[in-house]
Amino acid sequence: MIATPSMTGKTVLITGGTGGIGRAAAVGLATMGARVGITGRDRPRAEEAAAAIASDSSNPAVDVFVADMSSQAEVRRLAVEVLAAYPRLDVLLNNVGGFWAHRHMTADGLEQTFALNHLAPFLLTNLLLDRLIASAPARIVTVSSGAQSMGKIDFDDLMGERKYSGSDAYNQSKLANVMFTYELARRLEGTGVTATALHPGLTSTAFSAEDPSMGLLVKLLRPFMKSPARGAETPIYLASSSQVEGITGEYFSGRKAKKSHESSYDTAANARLWQLSADLVGLQVAPPMRTAIRSG
Ligand SMILES: NC(=O)c1ccc[n+]([C@@H]2O[C@H](COP(=O)([O-])OP(=O)(O)OC[C@H]3O[C@@H](n4cnc5c(N)ncnc54)[C@H](OP(=O)(O)O)[C@@H]3O)[C@@H](O)[C@H]2O)c1
Repeated sequence: MIATPSMTGKTVLITGGTGGIGRAAAVGLATMGARVGITGRDRPRAEEAAAAIASDSSNPAVDVFVADMSSQAEVRRLAVEVLAAYPRLDVLLNNVGGFWAHRHMTADGLEQTFALNHLAPFLLTNLLLDRLIASAPARIVTVSSGAQSMGKIDFDDLMGERKYSGSDAYNQSKLANVMFTYELARRLEGTGVTATALHPGLTSTAFSAEDPSMGLLVKLLRPFMKSPARGAETPIYLASSSQVEGITGEYFSGRKAKKSHESSYDTAANARLWQLSADLVGLQVAPPMRTAIRSG
């Protein structure tokens, strides 16, 4: 039997901790003793979730951050608030993600799926990177999906301007999560900060609820889905287990390292995606390891 790891003294930030997999991960990590920060778009909903997480985990150290992460200005404000609140950050769990059958634009004029699922964790991670490095050993865990295996990065049409399909956009964004993780791990070599990505498994959550066209499919699949607590097992494992101490640049499913889409091992493509993402969020890439924030 494997002992439950202690997270006492550790601080964890979970994006999208108000429901689904993020909330279940928050309960799991708070139960292990971590101080947990959750994010959500709506303050009352986030505060209600934080109170429930504190009660379910018997740990009052649950903090709320409010941001719509589809907006880069809000991601930047969120990062400022997190840096002010947390002198150390041991784990960043990039969990927020969504699916849209129809093409939507963000406040920044970017396609919603790419902006929320990929650019938001890319920007937030980079803005928190110095704090994570200063807190090493630290972990950056990004929730991808098995959908990454069907993904293709369309470098000529990243935002689906010419042709949009909800599943292509989602699969692309989840492959981007893996490629981001591998490039991040490469850039973080020698810092003591690890980067891993994962598939949580098909989990019964509010996922895609903003898109009514998915309703029937979700209803049909619901009986075969995991509970959020089971869906949170792999993120909790990667955030806390000594078994994955020092493991970086890997993709996990069911707590096991798995091969990801072949194209995610193309280091030139990963570096290209990194540079394009940095341009889209206004970060200057400073090789070999660090990304500097452009002033202004
Ligand atoms: N469920 C599955 O079967 C499954 C399978 C594979 C991968 N995944 C991945 O798992 C992750 C979590 O999914 P889930 O199923 O737990 O989804 P969920 O139940 O819809 O939860 C999503 C969380 O993200 C937050 N959120 C949504 N849009 C946001 C935005 N614009 N800005 C800030 N926060 C936002 C929500 O908070 P508020 O609504 O309170 O703002 C909520 O806390 C996603 O990355 C998804 O791609 C899920």
